[in-house]
Amino acid sequence: MKIQNIENDLLLKALKQEKTERYPIWLMRQAGRFLVEYRKVRETAGSFKGLLENPNKAAEVTLQPVSILEVDAAIIFSDILVVPESMNCNYIMEEKKGPYFPETIRNNEDLKKLQLPDLYKSNLRYTLEAIEITKEKLQNKIPLIGFCGAPWTIFAYCTEGSGSKTFSVAKRILYQDPEFAHQFLDLITDASIIYLKGQIEKGVNVIQIFDSWAGILSKEDFEIWSLPYIQKICDSIHEVPKIVFAKGANFSLNKINRINCDAIGLDWNVPIEFSKTQINKTTQGNLDPCLLYADRNYLNKKVNEFLDSLPTNHIVNLGHGLYPDTPRENVIELVKLVKNYIKK
Ligand code: CP3
Repeated sequence: MKIQNIENDLLLKALKQEKTERYPIWLMRQAGRFLVEYRKVRETAGSFKGLLENPNKAAEVTLQPVSILEVDAAIIFSDILVVPESMNCNYIMEEKKGPYFPETIRNNEDLKKLQLPDLYKSNLRYTLEAIEITKEKLQNKIPLIGFCGAPWTIFAYCTEGSGSKTFSVAKRILYQDPEFAHQFLDLITDASIIYLKGQIEKGVNVIQIFDSWAGILSKEDFEIWSLPYIQKICDSIHEVPKIVFAKGANFSLNKINRINCDAIGLDWNVPIEFSKTQINKTTQGNLDPCLLYADRNYLNKKVNEFLDSLPTNHIVNLGHGLYPDTPRENVIELVKLVKNYIKK
């Protein structure tokens, strides 16, 4: 493991299953639209992609939640879709709609257009430079989290061509052309490993793999089309701790528990008591992002009940990303409640 002396090492300790005096907290999508400061910088950058591809501005928005919310970790501002772009599968981020891929990848012929990324010639260089700048500014005060999408989730976007409720195009391909599907998943896996190694080289202290669409697969299919590829990524990364968040794959938590990762992300559908029967590693997440719409009293009560129910090693986070209309005072309050809670 790569050793760096980080002042606030609560997250790193929790990942090593060491005792911590309190629970660490960071939030998925902590750098995002719920912060007016984010929206301002994004405006000066012109667009979401303009922000992604401006390393100074990307570093700036990465650091906003660190000073505004005082969370225990920063996560580099980027997107999981930079990986397919680096392979030559480009996307457009449409305002209020989400990602759109003008050219989908649906068969072996399409696959020929793709390549493994060159870290320093492709778009990935912007995020790598943003990591470098962010690390310099953080001065080792808190850890920086790097990330990528899980191969299945990237496959789902590139084949479907956009977001979807069912991802039935993506799933159809698994059944109709399994050979192509495995080849494409293999290529995304190799590209993701190259990208994560690049992030580690630039100084990220932890990595998280986001499998946002794990839950649209059956248990059987998740264990064929997603988990083995996540496992391959985890088996290739030895330098930093790894968090796997497979949203909706609660049917396979015991299997995720067996792969070579350090923590497992939980969405809000899984009862924390059930997770304790499935997992003996550090857990993360589980709070419903909608709880942050509640009034102060309710928030206080629910967060304290939640903290009372946690296992010894847990990283406080939501069960998915913060929504853009979340009241910021409540997010600040959540962080305070977690910091003031005395562990039993
Ligand atoms: O967590 C963080 O603060 C770091 C930044 C981050 C973003 N995207 C910024 C972002 C991370 C870790 C992601 C990961 C990501 N991106 C995932 C996995 C996590 C999840 O949410 O399930 C996925 C599926 C994507 C793909 C993606 N990016 C979609 C579907 C969208 C559109 C939906 C939306 O919220 O608008 C994005 C855009 C995006 N990525 C935004 C941000 C802050 C909003 C874009 C904007 O500023 O207009």
